[in-house]
Amino acid sequence: MGLTALKTIVVSNRKGGSAKTTTAVNLASELAKQGSVLLIDFDTQGHASIGVGTQPSEGNGVHSIFLGKTLSETFIPTVHDNLTIAPAEAFFDVYEYADLRGVLKNRFEHERVADFFDYCVIDTPPTFDALLKNSLEVADAVVIPFVPHYLGVVAVGQMVRAIYQNASQLGHPIGNVGILPVMFNPHMKEHQELLKKVKVSFGKEKLFEPIGIDIRLAKQFESAEPIVLQGKRSKGQIDYQNFTKALLKRI
Ligand SMILES: Nc1ncnc2c1ncn2[C@@H]1O[C@H](COP(=O)(O)OP(=O)(O)OP(=O)(O)O)[C@@H](O)[C@H]1O
Ligand SMILES: [Mg+2]
Repeated sequence: MGLTALKTIVVSNRKGGSAKTTTAVNLASELAKQGSVLLIDFDTQGHASIGVGTQPSEGNGVHSIFLGKTLSETFIPTVHDNLTIAPAEAFFDVYEYADLRGVLKNRFEHERVADFFDYCVIDTPPTFDALLKNSLEVADAVVIPFVPHYLGVVAVGQMVRAIYQNASQLGHPIGNVGILPVMFNPHMKEHQELLKKVKVSFGKEKLFEPIGIDIRLAKQFESAEPIVLQGKRSKGQIDYQNFTKALLKRI
């Protein structure tokens, strides 16, 4: 039985390469230090699965819920005791299906996910498709990581609008939409200026403190050891731990 009500955090951005997976894996691993966590890898690339020591599945991945499987039969243990993953299904093609609405929500309710987990983190593909919509239907919070470049900021605006539009269509309001600058270089004037703009445009309460550049965040996928679980302190570790603390205060 979970200690608290389940909190589900969706990490999303239609823009590719914006550290969604890096954020999802470290957020899930850090949360697993204080509760039971389910990480759902909804991106068929399977990078979140790799990040926690497993591989995208061929036949038993999370996308098989759309073909009638239960969510819990896709669960497998990870590098961390408190962290379970529902790995990606490598060859699932979302565009082959006409209507996939409500499937994840249905599984959450029927399988009483809230009785077994305190937190669920969902890594999503760089698209605004049925997978993201399924995720938004169960979301308590959405985190949009973005690289502070001009088009990165444009993409955040597009995502925020699309998320709110989708929420009003579904009648499922999302209490928290947060924006997380990643790969931030404090010495770059462009980064500083774009951050100021984002604060003004979206409200500073939406913005998290930035995650800096740290090559260990790229290397963690090779060793399948999320940076927040590594023994050695590093910039990336401290940034993701602070981000997790800040997120917990909001949800
Ligand atoms: N703060 C960082 N410092 C250095 N490298 C980073 C940082 N964050 C992410 N990376 C690297 O940047 C690349 C993109 O990150 P990631 O795969 O997490 O993005 P993504 O948004 O999930 O991508 P996709 O859209 O393909 O799913 C990866 O190689 C990752 O290791
Ligand atoms: Mg990814």
